Amino acid sequence: MSDLRTLAVVGAGNMGSGIAQKMATEGFRVLLVDLNEAQLDRGLAGIKKTLEEGVARKIFRPEQAQAILGRIEKTTDWSALSAAELVVEAVFEDLGVKQEVFRRLGEATKPDCVLGSNTSSFYVRDLAAVTKHPERVVGLHYFYHPAKNRLVEVIPTKHTSKAALAKANAVQAAISKTAITCADAPGFVVNRYFVPWLNEAVRLLDEGVADIATIEAASKDAFGVGMGPFELMNVTGVPIALHAASTLGREFGAFYAPSPRLKAQVESKQNWTLEGAVDASKKQAVADRLLGVTFLVAGALVVEGVGSIEDTDIGARVGLRWPKGPFELMNRLGVEKAAALAAATGKPYALAAPKILAGRTAPFTFRLVETTVEDRVLTLSINRPDALNALNEEVMKQLDQAFDAAAARTDVDTIVIAGKGKAFIAGADIRYFVKRIESKKIDEIVAFTRKGHETLLKFAKARQPVIALLDGLSLGGGSELALACDYIVATKKGSFGFPETGIGIYPGLGGTQRLSRRIGVPLAKSFIYTGNGIGVDAAAKMGLVDRLVDHDHVGTAVKELTAKGKPGVRKTPTTVPVGFEKIAAPFATKSVDAILGGAAGADADEQKQLDRVRQKAPVALRIAEKLIDASASNTLADGVEAELAHLTQIFATADAYEGLSTLGKSKPVFKGS
Ligand SMILES: NC(=O)c1ccc[n+]([C@@H]2O[C@H](COP(=O)([O-])OP(=O)(O)OC[C@H]3O[C@@H](n4cnc5c(N)ncnc54)[C@H](O)[C@@H]3O)[C@@H](O)[C@H]2O)c1
Repeated sequence: MSDLRTLAVVGAGNMGSGIAQKMATEGFRVLLVDLNEAQLDRGLAGIKKTLEEGVARKIFRPEQAQAILGRIEKTTDWSALSAAELVVEAVFEDLGVKQEVFRRLGEATKPDCVLGSNTSSFYVRDLAAVTKHPERVVGLHYFYHPAKNRLVEVIPTKHTSKAALAKANAVQAAISKTAITCADAPGFVVNRYFVPWLNEAVRLLDEGVADIATIEAASKDAFGVGMGPFELMNVTGVPIALHAASTLGREFGAFYAPSPRLKAQVESKQNWTLEGAVDASKKQAVADRLLGVTFLVAGALVVEGVGSIEDTDIGARVGLRWPKGPFELMNRLGVEKAAALAAATGKPYALAAPKILAGRTAPFTFRLVETTVEDRVLTLSINRPDALNALNEEVMKQLDQAFDAAAARTDVDTIVIAGKGKAFIAGADIRYFVKRIESKKIDEIVAFTRKGHETLLKFAKARQPVIALLDGLSLGGGSELALACDYIVATKKGSFGFPETGIGIYPGLGGTQRLSRRIGVPLAKSFIYTGNGIGVDAAAKMGLVDRLVDHDHVGTAVKELTAKGKPGVRKTPTTVPVGFEKIAAPFATKSVDAILGGAAGADADEQKQLDRVRQKAPVALRIAEKLIDASASNTLADGVEAELAHLTQIFATADAYEGLSTLGKSKPVFKGS
């Protein structure tokens, strides 16, 4: 990542300062540019205040906040920008000002620096047009508060080069943003439906359908949100809503144009008054209209190719914090009903339900595994970034199908498996397990896991080398999936973890078999018993990762490993990887029973490790021990069957339910049964 170390932001206002803060929080050096010292100091004061709030809420330690601030360098000298890999422009929303900034950026930056704009209402292409380097320009639309809201809309123009787009996306992942791709169209994806949603609420008020308190209550119920449209406008600024609606109205016509009531409210310079009694009898009418607007616009933007249904929903979940995106809401309601609501809402404006919705009877299905091919390398990307790409039945089904299709292709030499956003794959959906235990359907967990094994076993059998691209964290099933690949290429953002015994179960997707085949029995036991995470540096040293590279060298690493060909059957090493003797030692000699019985460590470090093991679920530990021991001599196929054979037993334990159902809420208390 050394080549991505310096980023820059031009404009230290509300957005720019927050973007700079996030970049610095994620370890980048950030150049913050504004017109003068006073503006820069104002921006930095804002960052300091947000960081102090973070310290008060224990998100950062004081020294971390200090280090973040220390990575931000304020300057009015544009020549400093020559060090930047990517610049985000976040100056006033004024086309002339922005174009002037882009003209200067084209000259002040190095030849491969990506030039991003945070514009909300202009075409990105109109900014690209004034530079000598339109191929480097891309829209990067962040959401308020940009240090906290994870969403970013990435907007390539038809001139944006592949390299610039790839780098822009790599930086977003590196600063822990969830990126969705949008066409260069007014409102991009999220504001295209969110602004009409706000505007429709004002129309409902204006038409006397309901009062503000009722509209607020109805929208919260229908969308499952914490704040209704009027409260949101109060928080983010009523004039911003008017400005955004005016822009959309100019581009798309009367349906999008601001309600006169919204204009009047801005002229009054007042916030909306939220108080009042809720009239329950009017809530349905309000909900229908707000849902209708959402469906009408979300459908239209997908038909126009502005965004995909997946990205439209991710945008709502991540950017707006709606529990469900527009298309999931359509499915929940029934697509026929959704189409009727969209048509009814559009009727006064002579807008019909969008083609994707009209006459539809089947629910929408979401593409959770994307296939892309470049230069004979096929990449399967898991696309559930807001769920950290957790594996559920639908993801596994789509992965299996996509893998079969990939393996059958004669025009690809390599299959890469990757995760979108900040995670590679964060294990399996825990809620899925909890629900199945509660409904006494453990057999479904076994069937799901068996199918998962079948998919993972295909990786070794495919003609092409299969490579896991560990460009983010992996846990549990995600780490196991990586291990099932022929090779693992990691970046600094990668990590492994086997936390299962701490939640009452054992790694059941090959982890007890394939980890030991990579690093030997005692070290595998150490990680599976303690649940200690494995950073990529250590992983590379112990042979768990085949190549540790920065973002820009992933392609080269993939090519090198492809040239090596399939690695063949891995045999469990009998020696401990050099440098890890100490953490493996207690597990070479001590059984789980001995550890649970209170065996003492040889020194304080060892004692700490053993104490950690004693906090895990005993039944899970004993099964893991048996399975890992067997992995030294059995075939992989037998090992997989052995893992499957204990699933019914483990998921029926009280400890599994305790561990899975308390995850993220409280520390589990294991009883040993
Ligand atoms: N506020 C939001 O919720 C939001 C959300 C998404 C995108 N945006 C977009 O982000 C951009 C910035 O918005 P903001 O709310 O942060 O504005 P702001 O007014 O708070 O900040 C703009 C900053 O840019 C600086 N600036 C102006 N001209 C400059 C120049 N030539 N060189 C260097 N600095 C210059 C100003 O001094 C000021 O500090 C706008 O394009 C806006 O549309 C805003």
